[in-house]
Amino acid sequence: MQNLSQVLAQSSAPDSLKSVLAVTTGTCIAISDALKQGSLAGILGMAGNENVQGEEQKKLDVISNDMLKDALMACPSVRAIASEEEEDIVAANTDGEYLIAFDPLDGSSNIDINAMVGTIFSIYQQTGDHAATEQDFLIAGKHQVAAGYVLYGPSSMLVLTTGDGVNMFTYDPTKQSFILTTENVQVAPETKEFAINMSNQRFWSENMQNYVKDLTLGKEGPREKDFNMRWVAAMVGDVHRILCRGGIFIYPWDKKDPSKPGKLRLMYEANPMAMLLEQAGGKAHTHTQRILDIEPTAIHQRVAVVLGAANEVDKCLSY
Ligand code: AHG
Ligand code: MN
Ligand code: MN
Repeated sequence: MQNLSQVLAQSSAPDSLKSVLAVTTGTCIAISDALKQGSLAGILGMAGNENVQGEEQKKLDVISNDMLKDALMACPSVRAIASEEEEDIVAANTDGEYLIAFDPLDGSSNIDINAMVGTIFSIYQQTGDHAATEQDFLIAGKHQVAAGYVLYGPSSMLVLTTGDGVNMFTYDPTKQSFILTTENVQVAPETKEFAINMSNQRFWSENMQNYVKDLTLGKEGPREKDFNMRWVAAMVGDVHRILCRGGIFIYPWDKKDPSKPGKLRLMYEANPMAMLLEQAGGKAHTHTQRILDIEPTAIHQRVAVVLGAANEVDKCLSY
């Protein structure tokens, strides 16, 4: 069985990108170790401050952000980072050629109930002789050179693409490395499983309400089949399930706060997951366009997300 560095050694990824991936995934192992300690390490609970999005930070949001930030800043190939937990981008090495956007801990509300959380990352290549700025990060997702996540579940798993399919790795604590366990993941075009936070139903657009109503009408409704529903409350867990057994995941625009185009963030949630889904034969859209085509206007911008099984995403958009 091959480990991550053996798999990367056979890929066409340049050595500088391999070093960024080694630092990122190595830090995720350290985050995984910290999570396993839970309250024994005094790391659960609130940090006592808000991030730039006005969300209460958990201690683990801050700890995992600091771990990734410190490790990446020390990596010579890193030009700059952008994080959910940092208001501004942080410039690293002007000679570095990679920009990394990350969600250090996705699914924070799951921390205190010992449920699935993860780290999501998105990598772009960019050079220049100036210190990196926010403007440098505003690149459409289709230009990502790598994207992935580490899911901290019953086992820790790395799911990675460098633009040549999607591989899944399982963390082996006895070897302290990620071992390739599923190659070239594919998402079937049809599905009978959906993921959406139903408690927001009354705030959705009428079209979204009609689409989900037809799913729940099952065999007796226009879809003529029964659908099952799941909601992990961590995008990383919902996307992992879709990569494993198919499905559709939706976090739509809603009128709770009509000024926000969605809840999820483009640069470090939607884009990396969209690249993984497309590389696995699935689709990822907002209600109007392909996520990877969006020209970003700000690093913390939000988008509506419909991703998963290709035919089901098309069906949803047809409403
Ligand atoms: P984060 O913990 O990084 O802020 O992200 C949480 C996101 C996403 O992972 C998940 O799908 C969604 O929020 C859950 O939202 P609800 O609270 O509406 O279930
Ligand atoms: Mn998140
Ligand atoms: Mn987060």
